Amino acid sequence: MFFKFLGPKIFGDSVSIPDILDSIPESGIRRLFELASRQKDVISLGIGEPDFDTPQHIKEYALEALNKGMTHYTPNNGLKILRDAISEKLKKENGIDADPDKNIMVTVGGNQAFLLALSTFIRPGDEAIVPSPYFVTHAAAVRLVGGTVVEVRTCIENDFRVVSEDLKKVVTSKTRCIIISTPNNPTGSVLKRKDLEEIADIAVEYNIKIISDEVYEKLIYDGAEHVSIASLNGMSDLTITVNSFSKAYAMTGWRLGYVVADPATVAKMTKFQMYLAACPVSFVQYAAARALQDPRSRAATESMRQEYQKRRDYLYKRLSNVDGLVVNRPMGAFYMFPRVDFEDNVFAEKLLSEGRVVVVPGSAFGTYGRGHVRLCYATSMSNIEEATSRIERFMRSLRK
Ligand SMILES: Cc1ncc(COP(=O)(O)O)c(C=O)c1O
Repeated sequence: MFFKFLGPKIFGDSVSIPDILDSIPESGIRRLFELASRQKDVISLGIGEPDFDTPQHIKEYALEALNKGMTHYTPNNGLKILRDAISEKLKKENGIDADPDKNIMVTVGGNQAFLLALSTFIRPGDEAIVPSPYFVTHAAAVRLVGGTVVEVRTCIENDFRVVSEDLKKVVTSKTRCIIISTPNNPTGSVLKRKDLEEIADIAVEYNIKIISDEVYEKLIYDGAEHVSIASLNGMSDLTITVNSFSKAYAMTGWRLGYVVADPATVAKMTKFQMYLAACPVSFVQYAAARALQDPRSRAATESMRQEYQKRRDYLYKRLSNVDGLVVNRPMGAFYMFPRVDFEDNVFAEKLLSEGRVVVVPGSAFGTYGRGHVRLCYATSMSNIEEATSRIERFMRSLRK
């Protein structure tokens, strides 16, 4: 007997991956970029990656590794020197005590971690609670392993911070995890310590795991505090923390991230990795280990952060005054997620064809992204200035 389960077919306990793949929609982000590539003089606030180059000293560490002949496979869980450096960083900056041999695994970007982690404990029919709007990979990874995504609404009025009461209402006997992202993509929201304590209480009470996506931890504004939920009481064994070198060090193309979790989860993920990528690129791992120990890296991250904050301030100030937009003040990452009170796909297509600005329709990020668009300010100030002027003109034309 088989039955339809959110699209894919499930046979007894086995899930058909081809059917799941067919059921997952193509990214709404990609479609817009295809449209944009056919038009001239377009400013993109679409792509979610740093516009800065990787700091020079990190590139030099990679060259040093190549010259030393570090061109071979590494252990499946990553180079020991990198796991050691990550462990030190976690202790110093995140209040997390992690054994480099048991609790840490290096991954091919943060993105790879979600599928690997979820595949260690999600079975067909299990539920993962995901505050929505969400980062696209979170939901896709849950579906790919045969799980069900249970969306919980977050809204602009509460700065897109999830309310623990809302989480509690959807916990069932099938709930296995909650996936949080702070700072958040696509909204830029940052969860406060109190929010995280309340989420931790739910995890402990119902014995469910938290997957905590912290890839934007360094990009945080106005003196807000980044809190790692794994550092809270009783949470170290219940939390799978995901981090990455992509955003903090402008290293998206280097594809390097890491996971911190309990030993059993790390062991299973490492087994999966053996058959998947074997390991992340060896000389990239070496460069990252050295980068973590080099004070120049912290300085480089801080100067990028300051620049993002300037851009956010500018964008927020100008867009706050535009009729027809309800703007949030993002506290982290490099995204703003205004409400447009318009069907978001139509809005984004019209803004592209008439205003020549690329933004991403909010519905690409789940049910509760509808009626919003994502603006990424990881682009030059002059682009942001011109894009805002175009958006202002476009919004005036909409109201005529
Ligand atoms: C919230 C979030 N998590 C994880 C990632 C994955 O980044 P990477 O695979 O480059 O480390 C991204 C990338 O955009 C992101 O926005």
